[in-house]
Amino acid sequence: MEEEERTSQTAASARHSILALVAQSIDVIDHRKSVAVIGAGAGGLVAARHLRDAGFAVRVLESLGQVGGIWVYGDRSVMYDSLSTNIPKEIMGFSDVPFDPSLPSFIKHTDVLSYLQAYADRFALRDSIAFNTTVHSAEYVAAGREGAAVEGGWRINGEERLYDALVVANGRYNKPRYPRLIKMGFRGPSTHSKYYREPSAYANQRVLVVGGSWSGSDLVWELSSVATTVVWSGTQFTDADTAADLAAKLPANVRLVGRTEGVEEDGRYISVGSDGRLVTSTDTIDAVIWATGYTYDFPFFAPGSGLIPSGTADDPQCLFDALHLHVFHKSHPASLFFVGLPFGTGGFFFCMEVQAKAIIAVLKGQVSHAELAALPRFPHHYTPACYCALLEMIAQGRHESFPHTHSHNGSSEIITADPDALQLPPHILLRKHLHMDTTLSRKRLPGRYRERNYHIVMREGGEGEMMAWQVTEPVDRVV
Ligand SMILES: Cc1cc2nc3c(=O)[nH]c(=O)nc-3n(C[C@H](O)[C@H](O)[C@H](O)COP(=O)(O)OP(=O)(O)OC[C@H]3O[C@@H](n4cnc5c(N)ncnc54)[C@H](O)[C@@H]3O)c2cc1C
Ligand SMILES: NC(=O)c1ccc[n+]([C@@H]2O[C@H](COP(=O)([O-])OP(=O)(O)OC[C@H]3O[C@@H](n4cnc5c(N)ncnc54)[C@H](OP(=O)(O)O)[C@@H]3O)[C@@H](O)[C@H]2O)c1
Repeated sequence: MEEEERTSQTAASARHSILALVAQSIDVIDHRKSVAVIGAGAGGLVAARHLRDAGFAVRVLESLGQVGGIWVYGDRSVMYDSLSTNIPKEIMGFSDVPFDPSLPSFIKHTDVLSYLQAYADRFALRDSIAFNTTVHSAEYVAAGREGAAVEGGWRINGEERLYDALVVANGRYNKPRYPRLIKMGFRGPSTHSKYYREPSAYANQRVLVVGGSWSGSDLVWELSSVATTVVWSGTQFTDADTAADLAAKLPANVRLVGRTEGVEEDGRYISVGSDGRLVTSTDTIDAVIWATGYTYDFPFFAPGSGLIPSGTADDPQCLFDALHLHVFHKSHPASLFFVGLPFGTGGFFFCMEVQAKAIIAVLKGQVSHAELAALPRFPHHYTPACYCALLEMIAQGRHESFPHTHSHNGSSEIITADPDALQLPPHILLRKHLHMDTTLSRKRLPGRYRERNYHIVMREGGEGEMMAWQVTEPVDRVV
C-alpha cells in the first residue's frame, strides 16, 4: 500500500516537472488564470498546491533560498534552538498529509521543517517557486491602464506582466512588537524573543522576560535553569489568583509581576501591581527579553494604496475590518487574498488549507462578493473551530447552509456563527477537542505538557462517521 502510494507520488511529481519543462521550452500562451503567491512557508505551499491543482498558473515568490518559512532555522528566523511544537502533531498537519507516526505528539522544529520540505517535494512545488526573490512592491493596475489590456491585475516588483490574483502568505511573525512604555532608561542587554536562540548568555544573570504568552513561557522555563533570577512580566499576572496558581508550578527562581511599564537606568523595573498602581521594584535586572509578540506587516503595499489600514500596527482589528473572513480584501474580494492571518483553533496549517480552498471557490466565481459580505464575522484573535468549518463549506459550495448568525456576547461589533447550531464535521471536532485538551493540560502542567502523547482512534462510515482519541500522560504523572 505504502509502496503504491510512493510510486503514485513519484509519478505525480515527474508529471508536474515534465509539464513545467514543456512550458519553459515551447513558447506557449498560457490561458490559465495567473496567481502570484508571496511566501513559501506552510501557507504559501498549501495555497500553491491547491491553486495549481485547480488549474491556475501559480508563481510563488520567496525571499529565502528554501521552503518552510519560520521553520527554517537561521539568522533571519524566529526559531530558538530548543523550540518544540505547542500543539500535537496529530492536529498540526495538513488534512491529507500526516506527520511521521513514529514521532511523539510534540515535535522539534527540525521535524516540522522536514515535513514542509517533504510536502513541497511530494506535490512538486519547487518548480513553481522563485527562490531568493523578495517582493518589494505589489500594486493593483486597473483595467485599461499601463498595459492592463482587458482586465486589471497585480504587478509585482514593477515587472511588466500582471497576475490575475495575488495571495499574500508572507507570515505574521516577521516584525517584532515592542510595548509603549512610560520610561526606558535601561541601557543594558535588551532583545526581542525573535532574536533569542539559546540561554547561555544569561547564565548567572537576573533577567526580565516581558510577555506572558507562548514565547514568554518557553523562555522563562529555559532561562530558569541558568539564570539567577527570572522576573516574568505578563498582563494577566496582575490578577493575584492567576499569579498564585501559576507561581506554584514554576521553578523557585521565577517571580511573577504584572504588565511592564518601564525599566530604570539602574535596572529597577516598573510594573502594574495587583491594585492597578505602578510599582517600581527595589531589585534590579541585568537583561531584558521582550516576548511581546509581533505586528502585522506588509511592506510591499505602498502606504498610499490604502490596502492596509493605517491603524493596523496598533490595532489589528483595523486590518480585519478591511477583509471578509480574514482572507478576502473588501476592495478586491476576487483577486487579493490573505492566508494565515488569524490565530486558528486546531492548527494554523489546517486553517490555511481551508482558506486556500475557499480562495479557489471565489476565484472560480462560485461565491459572489455579495455572498461573502453576508457571511458571519469572526473574532480574529481566537477564531473558533466553526470558522474553519465555514471556509470548508465555501470550498464545497455549501455555505448557504451555514447557521444563522447572532451577536457575540451581545456586541454588534463582532458577529459569530452560532457554534451550538453547527454540527462540526468529525475532523474539525477532533481538532477542536485536542486543541482544548492541550490548552488545559498546559495550564495544569506548564513545564511538561509536551510529554503527553495523543493517539487517534478513527472510525469512519456514512452518518456514523466519528473520530476518537486517547492520551498517554507522562509516565510518572497521573492527572
Ligand atoms: C516561535 C513560533 C513558534 C510557532 N510554533 C508553532 C507550532 O508549534 N505549531 C503551529 O501550528 N504553529 C506554530 N507557529 C505559527 C506558525 O507561524 C505557523 O504554523 C506557520 O508556520 C506560518 O506559516 P506562514 O506560511 O503563514 O508564514 P511563514 O512561515 O512566516 O512563511 C512566510 C514566508 O514568506 C516569505 N516572505 C515574507 N515576506 C516576503 C516578501 N516580501 N517577499 C518574498 N517572500 C517573503 C518568508 O521568507 C517566509 O518563507 C509558531 C510561530 C512562531 C513565531
Ligand atoms: N511552538 C511553540 O512552543 C511556540 C513558542 C513560541 C511562540 N509560538 C507561537 O508564536 C506566536 C507568537 O507568540 P508570542 O508569545 O511570541 O506572542 P503573543 O502570543 O502575541 O504574546 C505576546 C504577549 O506579550 C504580552 N505583552 C505585551 N506588552 C506587554 C507588557 N508591557 N508587559 C507584559 N506583557 C506584555 C501580551 O499581553 P496582552 O495580549 O495582554 O497584551 C501577550 O501575552 C503564537 O502563535 C505562538 O503559538 C509557539
